[in-house]
Amino acid sequence: TKGDAYSDGSSVLIADIAELVTCDGPGETAESALGIIGDAALIHQHGEVVWLGPATEAPAADRAVSLRGRTMVPGFVDSHTHLIFAGDRSAEFAARMTGVPYDGGGIATTVAATRAATDEQLRDLLHARLAELRRQGTTTVEVKSGYGLDVAAESRLVGLAREVTDEVTYLGGHVVPAEYRSDRAAYVDLVTTEMLRACAPHARWVDVFCEPASAHAFDGDEARAILTAGMAAGLLPRVHGNQLAPGPGVQLAVELRAASVDHCTYLTDADVDALVGAADTTVATLLPGVEFSTRSPYPDARRLIDAGVSVAIASDCNPGTCYSNAMPFMIALAVREMRMTPAEALLAATRGAAKSLRRTTIGRLAVGGPLDAAVVDAPSYLHLAYRPGVPIVRAFGV
Ligand code: NIG
Ligand code: FE
Repeated sequence: TKGDAYSDGSSVLIADIAELVTCDGPGETAESALGIIGDAALIHQHGEVVWLGPATEAPAADRAVSLRGRTMVPGFVDSHTHLIFAGDRSAEFAARMTGVPYDGGGIATTVAATRAATDEQLRDLLHARLAELRRQGTTTVEVKSGYGLDVAAESRLVGLAREVTDEVTYLGGHVVPAEYRSDRAAYVDLVTTEMLRACAPHARWVDVFCEPASAHAFDGDEARAILTAGMAAGLLPRVHGNQLAPGPGVQLAVELRAASVDHCTYLTDADVDALVGAADTTVATLLPGVEFSTRSPYPDARRLIDAGVSVAIASDCNPGTCYSNAMPFMIALAVREMRMTPAEALLAATRGAAKSLRRTTIGRLAVGGPLDAAVVDAPSYLHLAYRPGVPIVRAFGV
């Protein structure tokens, strides 16, 4: 278990925590949901939290370590990444900064480079990116396939993802590859049959890029076919929806009781209403790094939160629309650019993202749960948004 430096079974008291943010408080307001304990301590044993509370009330433990006035928060949950790929698209980014819009066409470049890479090369790239995100406080990461787009290449990617996380997503329905451009139906057929059979044993989730505004992505009917086939194979649905224009993605996600619909940049009133009605089931996952890196308008987080939608934030780390896996940066963007409060942003990066993965023990710190935490070298969690770009965060024990 991360942070469990003592495998001999002794109990360890972590003292001098300036601010312990449990994200396990009552959910009436974002502030109360943070469940902050000032001047706190925490005791863990066998990787599990066995006590937490005010330092003055801490019971005895076998050993003690000092956090020296730092802040402890739950480890970040990055619930949306495309972490396995080869190749480089920095020139596409540079072109975009001069005004070239994003339309998903560059994905083909990454597919070619990824197909050409060896397992060892892909593994090395994946591990380097995992090390980066751990250094930024992320302890749980979802990883999608989607840069293979043939049976062998997609099943290789989900297999590599499964080596590093339980949260593996089959994204054969990322875009229609060049060789199927004149017969989209044949590609959807492949994604829903042979490719699905090869990938489902390694995956927990099925995802699709539902974006009728992009010639490369899938329309509502194609997306429905891909998601329902995945569900019939035992996978749980999540959706890329409403990224580039209004479309059917959000409504489809709600209809299929998807755990998450991600991007949510262009929403109609009916989309927002649907998400409010589905708030127990379907999380709207906002990916502000994408708007930052594509120079696009940010999703209207305030409209969603004020209406009562369940919201998460994640990085979407990928070579096209956001090559960053830094969750503190996403928190800073959520606050500065989407007018979320620092409390809302931290909750969205922890408990909210855990909900989007249907996980209840991560994204919060509670007795009986894992010691799955990040340390902020600051007297309060506000510094996550207050000191953007400064490396003050690390996964606990890393
Ligand atoms: O989430 N929208 C589709 N897929 C990715 C981008 C993939 C790429 O451009 O390589 C996304 O933004
Ligand atoms: Fe994505």
